Amino acid sequence: MLGRIIENGSTVLLYSLKGKSWLIKVDSKNEFHTHFGAVKFSEIVGKRYGDIVKTNSGQELILLEPLLVDYLMKSERRTQIVYPKDIGLIILETGIGPGSIVVEAGTGSGVLTTAVANFVRPSGKVYSYEIRPEFIEIAKRNLKRVGLEDYVIIKNKDASHGFDEKEVDVVLIDVGAPWTLVKPAFDALKGGGALAAILPTINQAEKLAVELKKNGFVNVNTVELLCRPIEAREGMSRPSTRMIAHTAYLMFARKSFLKVNTSYNENSCDGSEKV
Ligand SMILES: C[S@@+](CC[C@H](N)C(=O)[O-])C[C@H]1O[C@@H](n2cnc3c(N)ncnc32)[C@H](O)[C@@H]1O
Repeated sequence: MLGRIIENGSTVLLYSLKGKSWLIKVDSKNEFHTHFGAVKFSEIVGKRYGDIVKTNSGQELILLEPLLVDYLMKSERRTQIVYPKDIGLIILETGIGPGSIVVEAGTGSGVLTTAVANFVRPSGKVYSYEIRPEFIEIAKRNLKRVGLEDYVIIKNKDASHGFDEKEVDVVLIDVGAPWTLVKPAFDALKGGGALAAILPTINQAEKLAVELKKNGFVNVNTVELLCRPIEAREGMSRPSTRMIAHTAYLMFARKSFLKVNTSYNENSCDGSEKV
């Protein structure tokens, strides 16, 4: 199968075999500069995704059609973001899918928001709360670049004062004091609804778990995902010497009407189930 034809205005991932890549919007009147030389956009228009373009210094760059993960990792960032490895599990453990109604606090750079917006299409919605207007602008730009802005409503509100939405499917929490959002999350969620929290420190995890169990949440389980790159090449494959060793702990829970919960780590996503 031939790749799609690249037009003026298309978005392209310019990929170098030297391990660098750039997400660019083709503007046939301009050129794009890399440290491997410049590329004239006019030479890209009419090529297909998968084709090669040469810089003015003769370096070959591959024209790839961007995937969601490329947009996420090339987002404009002014805050800590949620990484793809963590987003993957969050989507599965919360059951986010087409039609889901999701409430999120805080929006930050909108990386998690963008990913979730992609999965709730076409009939779902993400309601995202953010206290800092300057981050809202960044998140909006990131959402617009990937064309997902219609699936998100960003509110410049403090989520600890409560969410406007009720009977929602999922609440996502990525703020410094997540335990202040347990009651708002409980009030917003439907019975059995899922909560996921992104927690950079173990202290946050401990405090949040206690608060969740005091407030009717069950199946509270906490994990950390380590993504270890492997350099796979003939006769000399081994783990990379470098990795991003820590992003965040992830905590998942479900809303119930149980009064007292004395359990810990039930049904963790590693497949183990307590007996
Ligand atoms: C780590 S960032 C979120 C990053 C985001 N998940 C992403 O992937 O780009 C945390 C954000 O929460 C916001 N925040 C903190 N407390 C909040 C609250 N009570 N209500 C709403 N937003 C809050 C902060 O201003 C900050 O932008």
